Amino acid sequence: MSYLCKAYNLIIMKKAIIIGASSGLGYEVARLLLEQGWTLGVAARRLEKLEQLRDTAPEKVQTQVIDVTSDDAPAHLQELIDKVGGMDLLFYASGVGNQNMELEPDIELKTVNTNGLGFARMIGAAYRYMAAHGGGHITAISSIAGTKGLGAAPSYSATKAFQGTYLQALEQQANMRGLNIRFTDLRPGFVATPLLGDNPKYPMLLDTKKVAREIVRAINKGKHVHVIDWRWRIATAMWRRIPRWIWRRLKVK
Ligand SMILES: NC(=O)c1ccc[n+]([C@@H]2O[C@H](COP(=O)([O-])OP(=O)(O)OC[C@H]3O[C@@H](n4cnc5c(N)ncnc54)[C@H](OP(=O)(O)O)[C@@H]3O)[C@@H](O)[C@H]2O)c1
Repeated sequence: MSYLCKAYNLIIMKKAIIIGASSGLGYEVARLLLEQGWTLGVAARRLEKLEQLRDTAPEKVQTQVIDVTSDDAPAHLQELIDKVGGMDLLFYASGVGNQNMELEPDIELKTVNTNGLGFARMIGAAYRYMAAHGGGHITAISSIAGTKGLGAAPSYSATKAFQGTYLQALEQQANMRGLNIRFTDLRPGFVATPLLGDNPKYPMLLDTKKVAREIVRAINKGKHVHVIDWRWRIATAMWRRIPRWIWRRLKVK
């Protein structure tokens, strides 16, 4: 499968844009797509990290500084698409996340700004581009945290629910409009990336490289929604069934 994908992508020079490619899952997925023969445009706020990625395959990678919370971010996305020469695939990995038991307002609002407004701003820009250019594939990492309200991370779980619902709505709208745009909503459990800090201690913690491989497989298969990994598929299927009067009494960290 991966050999066929690589050969196919090499022949037709498929172009992917990755937003949030400077670390963690975005960085690892970028490396895997390069191995499969994709041409990449990579974006985030930290240019030096993007340049490290570009230096691994200078002829295949273009970089662009994009802050998804900024009004000019869609214009910078268009600049990057122009540098790459098109966008067949968007892989959206930008995001912030914190536990916030004290409900610090700065944390709550920054999370809404990045994961909510930034997400709608950038996914919307990609959708409009693809609608005007014959279609494409929009893929984004939401989270299993979006499947229930988590007391330890209110704005994080709420914005992840927003992301999942937003993608579901766009998928329906694209069908209603007869647009050739596909969607993949990727929902990992806890992954040992910089987002969780040093020495993260979380249940069923996942390895970044393994999750990145599962993400690329799900994208290649054109999955609509994919929870990573199988243990988290079981866990989320079970906790979705927990009634609200029980859920509010649980201590979930
Ligand atoms: N780690 C987990 O346990 C886990 C689980 C489920 C879902 N996720 C989701 O997976 C996605 C990737 O996170 P990760 O775990 O790989 O964490 P990460 O290593 O911290 O990566 C986050 C990425 O988002 C970018 N970013 C943050 N704020 C941005 C902004 N304002 N504008 C543009 N880019 C911004 C960062 O780049 P710059 O700082 O350079 O801008 C970085 O590339 C996030 O949406 C996260 O919520 C993570």
